[in-house]
Amino acid sequence: MRAVFAAGLAAFLPAPAAAQDKPKMAEEVFKNVQVLKGISVDDFLGTMGIMSAAVGFDCSECHIGAGTDKVDWAADTQKKIVARRMVTMVANINRENFSGRQMVTCWSCHHGRDRPATSPTLEIVYGPPSQETDDVLTQMPGQPPADQIIDKYLQALGGPQKLATLKSFAATGTSVGFGGFGGGGQVEIYAKFPDQRATLIKFKKETGRGDSDRVYNGKTGWIKTPLAVLTDYELTGSELDGARLDAELSFPAQIKQVLTQMRVGLPASISDLPGPSSQTASETKEGIGQDRPVNVVQGNGPHGMLATLYFDQKSGLLLRMVRYGRTPIGRVPTQIDYSDYRDVDGIKLPFRLTFAWLDGRDAIQLNEVRINVPIDPSKFERPRSAN
Ligand code: HEC
Ligand code: HEC
Repeated sequence: MRAVFAAGLAAFLPAPAAAQDKPKMAEEVFKNVQVLKGISVDDFLGTMGIMSAAVGFDCSECHIGAGTDKVDWAADTQKKIVARRMVTMVANINRENFSGRQMVTCWSCHHGRDRPATSPTLEIVYGPPSQETDDVLTQMPGQPPADQIIDKYLQALGGPQKLATLKSFAATGTSVGFGGFGGGGQVEIYAKFPDQRATLIKFKKETGRGDSDRVYNGKTGWIKTPLAVLTDYELTGSELDGARLDAELSFPAQIKQVLTQMRVGLPASISDLPGPSSQTASETKEGIGQDRPVNVVQGNGPHGMLATLYFDQKSGLLLRMVRYGRTPIGRVPTQIDYSDYRDVDGIKLPFRLTFAWLDGRDAIQLNEVRINVPIDPSKFERPRSAN
């Protein structure tokens, strides 16, 4: 399998073994699934994130006791019943009007409100133009070809020849968290060319948080998180695709094989990201900073997963990746911001990684990265649960 991979990612097809062990569907794992059937557990939980974000609820507004140990996820509540009806409604709208393409989602109407607005306010009509962007980008006329932006990125990192020598790395750091939550974990990241990556976060006992691990071994992935519906499980569906993409993009030399059909959208700007000097400030005022002009490139990753990359126009470096998981009610965005690039033996690597999911955020500050070191294969094995 490794040989196939090395010969060219474009020719890579899923190994037969992966198809045999069929992942469990949401309705086999949960007790009361009536409409969101036939999707993986991860994608099902992704739909819960979409619902919450779309209507501006947290889980407990539809699920009795969510956030406590008395939670009953399966029990129906009035809001849950409405939400279920909305899932069917959305499917019908898309089927009857958009030949089944996913053009209308919960977000289209709700935009973070429980009851969608019905009339435009004149403030909005005469206000600044909407900053919302399309998920799916097409090559915009007048924009440079994607190759040019990618080549500049590879050059900024140390050049393609140098990058081709990168075969592994091992990093240590701390998790910084957001708003005083989730910080203080000891982080280890291991990556091995072409497609293995493990992020292992250990919390000190007194914080009461268990370990949080995310592993992709080139074929299978696992997640272990203490504060979740499922504490320890094998990744499936778009979560698995996302883990694979993260692992593959750990080695930028292969970016043009990993992402296909690259196209360049209109340039945008994103807020400046905190570097090491503003580390303390960033914990309290994250997201505040200057706007940086970026080139926006989109490509298709594993199973056509959309990934949008934002490259700093000036330095050429990758500042952000947003990848989208697919679900029946909308796309689930995961955003990773890269900053604090430092030189490690002639290759620039980001020392700060900031993650945002629909259900939370986290940031990692690395203090040491060693490249091309041997990595114990056990790091890419299924994380063992302590309980
Ligand atoms: C707007 C309402 C709404 C919100 C908010 C919501 N859910 Fe749900 N949830 C539902 C609906 C509807 C179903 C049943 C789906 C179906 O029947 O296919 C469900 C089912 C579930 C189930 C399956 C329970 C079982 O055993 O059948 C879990 C687990 C779950 N939700 C977790 C969550 C989590 C975690 C959150 C917060 C991130 C959340 N939900 C937020 C509406 C909601
Ligand atoms: C075509 C527009 C539209 C779409 C798409 C839509 N909704 Fe709604 N939704 C509404 C409207 C309008 C209401 C308010 C109905 C009312 O007040 O009687 C509503 C109400 C709700 C409510 C009840 C809120 C409350 O506080 O009582 C929930 C929950 C909800 N929607 C969830 C969803 C979910 C989940 C999706 C995606 C699967 C979705 N909606 C998609 C239009 C939409």
